[in-house]
Amino acid sequence: MIKVENVKKAFGHTTVLDGVDLTIAPGEVVSILGSSGSGKSTLIRCINGLEKLNSGRIMVDEFDVGKPRELAEARKRSGTVFQLFNLYPHMTVLGNITLAPIEVLKKPRAEAEATARALLKSVGLGSRADAYPAQLSGGQRQRVGICRALAMQPRYLLLDEVTSALDPEMTAEVLAILAKLAQDGTTMLFVTHEVEFARQISDRIVFLDNGRLLVDLPTKEFFAAEGGMARPRVAQFLSKMRKE
Ligand SMILES: Nc1ncnc2c1ncn2[C@@H]1O[C@H](COP(=O)(O)OP(=O)(O)OP(=O)(O)O)[C@@H](O)[C@H]1O
Ligand SMILES: [Mg+2]
Repeated sequence: MIKVENVKKAFGHTTVLDGVDLTIAPGEVVSILGSSGSGKSTLIRCINGLEKLNSGRIMVDEFDVGKPRELAEARKRSGTVFQLFNLYPHMTVLGNITLAPIEVLKKPRAEAEATARALLKSVGLGSRADAYPAQLSGGQRQRVGICRALAMQPRYLLLDEVTSALDPEMTAEVLAILAKLAQDGTTMLFVTHEVEFARQISDRIVFLDNGRLLVDLPTKEFFAAEGGMARPRVAQFLSKMRKE
């Protein structure tokens, strides 16, 4: 389970996360919605131990992300794919995917490569193992990014707007992969502006507003009540997203 407990995070005098509580159980798909600047990426970066908390605690299974000795174990459990493609440009697709399994998990190269090839095949890139990132489209690169995260066999997959830099066709390609992962029972924390897609794949929707977690509801209830108690703010957000 991922447990975010009363997390506060500020940059200088700006509070970016203001007492966030969130629990994600194995098998759940949880989408985080919220306006630009509401703190979504910061929350993902905190779960990854990339940001130091001002207060509160984040546990990934039994490991405390804030404790330097436990961070590596916590990170092994959560694979992350970011907004921007961050593949190593000087390595092939296969090299990018097998690097961490070989270096961190100490997997034999042959085994790591076999896993990588199977993952690539599952996202429709079976023939591109030897290509370099620059030779791929944005959608293909992002699919490789997903394979790279999955190659570490994480218990949790954290996705931060993985389709925001893609055109609609490439977005559809990547979302299809994510829908399949959700169906297969992958635990996912999914930051997105794709409201309709979030509605289709999520068990729960959380809504961040100015660093506060205003809403945490089962997907059906979230959309039926447009945010329940936080209805005015959520309705405003949803109507803006639908116009875009
Ligand atoms: N390293 C940093 N230093 C200072 N301020 C930061 C830093 N990172 C984020 N912020 C600020 O924190 C706030 C939340 O940023 P964050 O990137 O988490 O928002 P977001 O919800 O992911 O937005 P978007 O939808 O645009 O990706 C913003 O006001 C941002 O300017
Ligand atoms: Mg962001």
